[in-house]
Amino acid sequence: MPIGEGPNGSFCQRVGLQPGMEPLKGLILSGGAGTRLRPITHTSAKQLVPVANKPVLFYGIEALVEAGVTEIGIIIAPETGEEIRAAAGDGSAFGARITYIVQDAPRGLAHAVLTAAEFLGDSPFVMYLGDNLLRDGLRGLVATFESEEPDALILLTPVAEPQHYGVAELDGERIVRLVEKPKDPPSNLALVGVYLFTAAIFEAARALEPSWRGELEITEAIQGLIDDGRTVRSEIVTGWWKDTGQLADMLEANRLVLEEVQTRLEGSVDDASTVEGRVVLEPGASLVRSVVRGPAVIGADALIEDAYVGPYTSIGDEVRISRSEVEHSIILAGSTVADLATRMEASLLGRNVKLTRSEGIPRTLRLLVGDNSTIEIV
Ligand code: TTP
Repeated sequence: MPIGEGPNGSFCQRVGLQPGMEPLKGLILSGGAGTRLRPITHTSAKQLVPVANKPVLFYGIEALVEAGVTEIGIIIAPETGEEIRAAAGDGSAFGARITYIVQDAPRGLAHAVLTAAEFLGDSPFVMYLGDNLLRDGLRGLVATFESEEPDALILLTPVAEPQHYGVAELDGERIVRLVEKPKDPPSNLALVGVYLFTAAIFEAARALEPSWRGELEITEAIQGLIDDGRTVRSEIVTGWWKDTGQLADMLEANRLVLEEVQTRLEGSVDDASTVEGRVVLEPGASLVRSVVRGPAVIGADALIEDAYVGPYTSIGDEVRISRSEVEHSIILAGSTVADLATRMEASLLGRNVKLTRSEGIPRTLRLLVGDNSTIEIV
């Protein structure tokens, strides 16, 4: 039977589309200032910070591809865009086609949508914040959007302190009102960084004025859709969701992803070392007289010597840990941790950091620390 002529629209069913609906495009927002993750974001994009040794951004690209969305635009900032381009490339490694769209300055999520107008055309699209992680992916959401065809479908999650988020007031599954950081929250349901839109969002975004923080707010654009009588639906997140925009959340995302890691030992473990629990040891990594207690991942060519690596730790490629104990931390490629007097935990070390202790008296701290670093001596 020729494609598209099945009695029940068989072609359309096979690719998961409703008859008449254009294929969804993806729009990942990887611009932004990243002020809350300084100093890491002085030199690198926060979307490229690895969680379980994989850049946060890649989880978003993979989730889109897994949901059948392969035509993907990535919003990039002038400062960090090249690095993102180099990391994600043309998308072929993910089975996607990636177009990069430069946003001149971080003028808000709705501004990012407007910046991508040419790429998006009239297509419906999934907008995904490039520093967000969603455990259960996007398949279910995409299926709901395609079967119900609302003008917008947003994702909500219950939070403990709704006054810090964009919060939704609901009538059943229909959104009645969205309020940004309300003093008196109408519910405990906060907006998560994944949105599905039809091209109707453009008109709503074009009508916006900058908010008090100088941004075109996507919550206001969605409120505009509601005020115009458009259908805005919501779903509650199943599984976990994490915005990795600040240190504690980044570490928590690392913990949640490592929770599901499976053992794979491709490096070398000497007779005096032990590996407990689920651990990934990449090729060329060596454990020498050390204990690694998973879940943990240790990158290629890393050297762990006379050391302890505890649960929820991600160690990048070519990192050296000697005569030290680390736990619940992310250590980026090329860094060295040696001879620490106390266990290091809940820490994020950037690339090529050297954290060592020198012998000799007096016992002092000698530091060379970049702007906006945080160091706690306990
Ligand atoms: P945010 O984390 O809300 O903003 P930010 O990146 O500027 O960070 P901070 O508040 O710490 O300064 O942004 C969410 C995601 O959207 C993130 O991946 C960056 C991206 N983004 C853009 O691409 N363009 C924008 O104009 C904004 C505000 C964010």
